Amino acid sequence: MEQALAIADDAADVSTTLQGVTAGVEERAARMGVELRFGRAGLLDAVEHLWLGLFDHHTSVGAAGLPVIARELSWPRRRALYETLLGKPDAFVLLATRDQAAVGYVLAHIHEGADDTWPTGSRIGEIESLVVLPSVRGVGLGNLLMDAAEQRLAAVGAHDVLLRVLVGNDGARRFYQRRGMTAVMTTMLKLGSPPTERQPA
Ligand SMILES: CC(C)(COP(=O)(O)OP(=O)(O)OC[C@H]1O[C@@H](n2cnc3c(N)ncnc32)[C@H](O)[C@@H]1OP(=O)(O)O)[C@@H](O)C(=O)NCCC(=O)NCCS
Repeated sequence: MEQALAIADDAADVSTTLQGVTAGVEERAARMGVELRFGRAGLLDAVEHLWLGLFDHHTSVGAAGLPVIARELSWPRRRALYETLLGKPDAFVLLATRDQAAVGYVLAHIHEGADDTWPTGSRIGEIESLVVLPSVRGVGLGNLLMDAAEQRLAAVGAHDVLLRVLVGNDGARRFYQRRGMTAVMTTMLKLGSPPTERQPA
């Protein structure tokens, strides 16, 4: 079941004005019966269940063969990260709702300074998260959210976009490749902490 939406509609940092986004994206959203809104921390309560869906998805594709933390620890940590990222200039959450229920989101922020290897501009956008509710996948919402996020980033001078994909999340990797992205780096991790917080097998 989709959880009830808890958007702080009166929050000063939430806006249904889709600044930086083309009319074409707004029309596609309307055709899908989806409402898009940009915001910052005022939207975070609404994305908790979507984040947990991504945590479950990452677990279901094997979590790169490593143990994972207990599920209930994940959102508080992710929320803290989001709050930090959303404190940066031009960072945003883009939330998609349908019939008042949150069905997808993107969270993006900006790295200042041009890349030292590839010929980027002076601001590089990072898609920190992209999630679509399983029941509405495959109808174009993921592409719509990415198009809107990329347009918004470009509107503030970030024409280059990077993101990280979990090893084994092959569906998402194909999705991004179809959108013109190229795999450029692999993140390496060696776990050394005592296994006190791991999820029981
Ligand atoms: C990756 C993800 C965001 C894509 O969202 P989406 O709304 O399904 O994307 P779209 O419908 O715009 O496009 C999906 C593509 O797969 C195809 N597709 C068909 N059925 C599908 C299904 N059940 N699920 C996913 N994709 C499907 C679509 O036709 C489309 O192909 P195209 O790009 O060649 O047109 C979504 O699958 C998701 O939330 N996955 C789990 C979380 C995740 O992995 N996020 C990325 C973390 S890096």
